[in-house]
Amino acid sequence: MFLSTRLWKEAPLSLRMMHKYKHLFTPLVLGDTLFRNRIFAAPLGLEYYPAENLHPGDDFIAFYERKAQGGAATVSIGSAMVDNARGAIGPTIRLDDPSALAPHYRLAQCISRHGAVADIELQHAGANAYHSKLGLGNEIYGAFDSINGLGMEVPAMPEEVILETIEKYGDAAQTARHCGYGMVTVHAGHGWLLHQFLSPQNNRKDRWGGSMENRARIVVAIAANIKKKCGPGFPICIRISGAEIYAGGYDIDYGVEIARQLDGHYDLINVSVGVHEAPEVFTHTHPSMFLEDGANVKYAAAIKKAVRHSKVAAVGALAEPALMEEIIAAGEADVVMLCRQLLADPDTPLKAQAGREQEIRKCMRCFECFSGQFMKLSTYCAINPEIGFERETRYAAPVVRHKRRVLIAGGGVAGMQAAITAAERGHTVILCEKNEYLGGILRCEAKVPFKQNLQKYLDQQAAFIRKSNMTLHLKTAVTPALAKDIQPDVIIAACGSRPLVPKIPGIDGPNVLSAEHAFMHPELVGERVLIIGGGLSGLELAIYLSMLGRKVSVMEMSGSLNYSGNIIHGMAINNEIKHHQIEIITSTKAVAIDERGVTGEFVGDKFSPPPLCGTIAKGILTSAISEARLERDEAPGSRIHYEADTVIYALGQVPLREEAHALSDCAPLFFSIGDCVEPKNIYTANAIAYTIARDLGRY
Ligand SMILES: Cc1cc2nc3c(=O)[nH]c(=O)nc-3n(C[C@H](O)[C@H](O)[C@H](O)COP(=O)(O)O)c2cc1C
Ligand code: SF4
Repeated sequence: MFLSTRLWKEAPLSLRMMHKYKHLFTPLVLGDTLFRNRIFAAPLGLEYYPAENLHPGDDFIAFYERKAQGGAATVSIGSAMVDNARGAIGPTIRLDDPSALAPHYRLAQCISRHGAVADIELQHAGANAYHSKLGLGNEIYGAFDSINGLGMEVPAMPEEVILETIEKYGDAAQTARHCGYGMVTVHAGHGWLLHQFLSPQNNRKDRWGGSMENRARIVVAIAANIKKKCGPGFPICIRISGAEIYAGGYDIDYGVEIARQLDGHYDLINVSVGVHEAPEVFTHTHPSMFLEDGANVKYAAAIKKAVRHSKVAAVGALAEPALMEEIIAAGEADVVMLCRQLLADPDTPLKAQAGREQEIRKCMRCFECFSGQFMKLSTYCAINPEIGFERETRYAAPVVRHKRRVLIAGGGVAGMQAAITAAERGHTVILCEKNEYLGGILRCEAKVPFKQNLQKYLDQQAAFIRKSNMTLHLKTAVTPALAKDIQPDVIIAACGSRPLVPKIPGIDGPNVLSAEHAFMHPELVGERVLIIGGGLSGLELAIYLSMLGRKVSVMEMSGSLNYSGNIIHGMAINNEIKHHQIEIITSTKAVAIDERGVTGEFVGDKFSPPPLCGTIAKGILTSAISEARLERDEAPGSRIHYEADTVIYALGQVPLREEAHALSDCAPLFFSIGDCVEPKNIYTANAIAYTIARDLGRY
C-alpha cells in the first residue's frame, strides 16, 4: 500500500471508547435490505473508464471496489443509461444492452463481497442528451418544448415515448437487480429528464404536466414499474434537487412539495441541489471549499420534516464523522452520502467506526478530481495517490498492520470461513457456536444422500478449525455479557437464521413440521406429504422424502418453481421431480391446515415473478430454463383440499438480525455476515466472510 496512513501510537483498540458514533453505525433497513451503517457512497460516474461497449472494465470495477472495502454501507455507481438511444449526454455505461450483464455482475459482486450494497444510478438526460443527438443522430425529447444547453430546440416527449421510458427504467432496474445490485437510484435531480418533468417550468397540458401531481406522475409511475419488476422489497432511492438555488429556479418549499409526491413510493429520497445547466450553482451541487461543511444538509432536513414514509439522505461537503453523527442523531437525515470524501479516504467509515478518526484524510474540496474528469478524462485525487490506481493494490492481500483479537459468533458456513481466514492472517480467533457441532443449518441435511459432498466440505472446514490454533467453544451462544468478558477488538456476528413460519391456521398442528426438522427426522414424516414452498429447500426435501418412499406434493404460490437463479440445478431437479412423480401444485396458496391435509386456494399469476425484460432475456440462455408448472384453467379464488398425513413448510429463512445487532456495541469493530444479514447461498456467505476477514487488521 503506497499510501498507508501513519501508525498511531495509541492504546490498544479494545481499550478505547467504543462506538462514539452510535447513530452513524446503527444499521438501516430499506425495503428488505439491511444496510450496515448510515454512510452511503454517493453516485459518482466515471466517464472515461468504461471498456468495450461502454461496459465496466477492470479499472472501473477496482475503483468502486476500493470504496466498498472501506466500510461504506452502499457504493453507488454513477449515471448508467436506461435508454442509450435517447438519453445519453455522453458515452456512458448502460443497462439497456444484453452484453452488459456479465461486466455489471462482476462489478456488483466486487462491491457486495465486502458487505456493501451495490447501487447504480438510472439516468436519462432528456433535453440534454447531446450524445444521443449528435453522436448517434437520434431524435431526443425533454419534458416540455425547450432550448437546451447547446441551443438546440428540443420537443416535448410524446405520450407513447413517456410510457416506453417508464418501462425502460423498470427494465434497467430489473437488469441491475439481476446483475447483483442491491438498490437502484433514480436520478431526478440536477436538470436531467425527470427533473425537467418535476420542474415548475413543466406546463404541459396533458396528464404529465401543469399541476404538481401531474409533474410527478412519471416519477411515481417509474417507482411502481420498478417495484413491479423487481419486487416490493427491492429498495429504490430517488435523487432530487431539494432546491435549484439559481435566480428564478425553484426553492426549498417547492422541493418539499416534490418530496411529498414521492413519499412512500421510494424507500430513500437523496436530497441534492442545483441544475447542471445553471453553471453558477455547480459548485453548490458539489460544494466548493468556500462553503461550510454540510452546506446542503438544510435542504435534506426540511424534506425530512415533511415526509412520513420515505427515509431521507443528506449529501454535500460531509467529511467529519462528528458532524455526520450529529445530522443523524438530530433527525435531520437518516443517511449521509459522501462522494469526494471517499476519494480522499475510502476508509473513512472504517476509521470512524474503529475510533481512529484522527487518521481520516479529509477532502479539501479542491476539485482536482472533478476537473480531471473534464480536462484529462481521468479521476485522481490530490491527496490520495491510490485513486485511479486501485488495481495496483487490489490483488495483493493487504498487510496485517495490527494483529487483532477476533470473536466470531456462529460456526455456520460464513462463521467458519471468517474464522479460518482470520486465523490464517495471524489474528487471535475465538469461535463460539451455540450447537454442539460446526456447520450451522446445513447440518440438517446430514443424512441426505445427494448432499454428502456438502457435508464433506463442512467436515473439512471444521477440521481446519480444529487443527488451527484458534479457540473453539461449542455449545456457547455469544451474549453481550460474554462478548464483553472476552474483550475482543473485533466481533464478527454470523448468527444465522431461523425458519420462516407462515401464518396459516393449523400451522401449530401435530402433523406439521419445518423443512429443517423434516430433513433431520424423516421418520416423523407420514406416508403422504405436502410441502408448502417450491424453492430449492422444499424441492430438495421433496426429492429426499420421495427417495425414502413417501408420496410427495409441493405447493407453490407462484406460477413456477423457484431455483434461486441456479437454472442448471433446476434442470436436474426437474428430472428428479419427473422420476419420483412428485406432484407440483403451482399458483396455489395454502390457506388452512387440518389433520387431513391442506386447503389450497388458486391465485392465478398474482404471486408470479414478472417476466424477464428483453435485455436480460436476450443476454442469458433462456432456453435453459425449463419449468415444472401445473396448467390449470380455474378461476382465481377456487379452493381444493389436498390430502396429506404430514405437512411441511419450506418458505425460507428469517435472518437473526436482532441477535447480531445485540453484539454490535461489544467491541470497537463489528461486522455481521452470512444468514443473519440475509439468507442467501453458500457462495455469497463465503465470499463476504472471506473478504471481510482477509481485510481485518488494517485498523
Ligand atoms: C467526480 C464526480 C462525479 C460525479 N458523478 C455523479 C453522477 O454520475 N451522478 C450524480 O448524481 N452525481 C454525481 N456526482 C455528485 C455527487 O454524487 C455528490 O452529490 C456531490 O459531489 C456532492 O457530494 P461531496 O461533497 O461529498 O462530493 C459526482 C461528483 C463528482 C465529484
Ligand atoms: S481531489 Fe480534492 S476535491 Fe477531489 S477528493 Fe481529493 S481532496 Fe477532495
